[in-house]
Amino acid sequence: MPTGTMKPGPEKAETWVAVNGRIVPEAEACLTPSDRGFLYGDGLFETMKARHGRVDFLEKHLDRMREGARDLAIPFSPAPSFPALIQQLLDWNGLHETASVKICLSRGTHKGPLSLYESAEPTLVIFARAWEEPDPDRWERGLEITVEKEIRQNRFSGICHLKTLNYLPYLLTRTRAGHAGFEEAILLNGEGSLCECTAANIFFFRQGQLETPAASCGLLPGITRAVLLEILDGNGTPAREVTRPAEILAACEEIFVTNSLLEIMPVGRVDGHHFPRREQTRELRDRFRSFRNTLYSDA
Ligand SMILES: Cc1ncc(COP(=O)(O)O)c(C=O)c1O
Repeated sequence: MPTGTMKPGPEKAETWVAVNGRIVPEAEACLTPSDRGFLYGDGLFETMKARHGRVDFLEKHLDRMREGARDLAIPFSPAPSFPALIQQLLDWNGLHETASVKICLSRGTHKGPLSLYESAEPTLVIFARAWEEPDPDRWERGLEITVEKEIRQNRFSGICHLKTLNYLPYLLTRTRAGHAGFEEAILLNGEGSLCECTAANIFFFRQGQLETPAASCGLLPGITRAVLLEILDGNGTPAREVTRPAEILAACEEIFVTNSLLEIMPVGRVDGHHFPRREQTRELRDRFRSFRNTLYSDA
């Protein structure tokens, strides 16, 4: 397995990253300033949850990255030793419980053309950081989110479905939400239909039926969203993938968001509307957890 130098003793408490297959101290890791990821945001990333040294739904994340890389003509073919490299990175960082693992892939050094030319040497960096689950009180309170009124998703951009390194629209939206006193924001598309949050997909129970914006609205189809839809389909209680205006949220029974780290997290407030009920969201969270525990035991 391609790794870096031997890990020094515990007196050297470093943060380690993997750069192009070699594990090195983060302080010593280098990329060229001509990296296309830095110059143009020309690349992709994945954020995943690891528990006890193993990444949940790793193959699904790698498949999404493979498909995105194919769309953008960036070579990405992780070796069979890739999961072991992540495991070693988690170990060297002392992350034996819950952690977030982020893979960043760029086209590599800029060679001239301002097009998505195929590069022979992409850049691949893996980060592993500690991550704490929200405690039960935090979960019960839910997120406070606002509907973003100005910044819109462009469902015709050609890149909505990709998890690209160019995260500025989401960062800007999240910053605006923060200034208005909210933790997250819901983005609409140009036609005013609900899309997603800045770092999560959204679901709502409406008139007893679970709904989520359709991918065609212009959103990143999340891995957690896909797994939840699969679970519901398998149980014969499919969620509806819909196109809905923001105004429907006020009349929803329960709202929640999904992403790989939070999994299923309730929404407690959308602007002036409060959502105190949790029964259906709690039930789905429990089903989701028991499904992933059958795939990846907690031990
Ligand atoms: C914009 C956006 N939508 C949706 C998601 C949820 O995706 P996943 O479930 O794959 O983490 C994320 C995750 O970070 C995101 O950034």
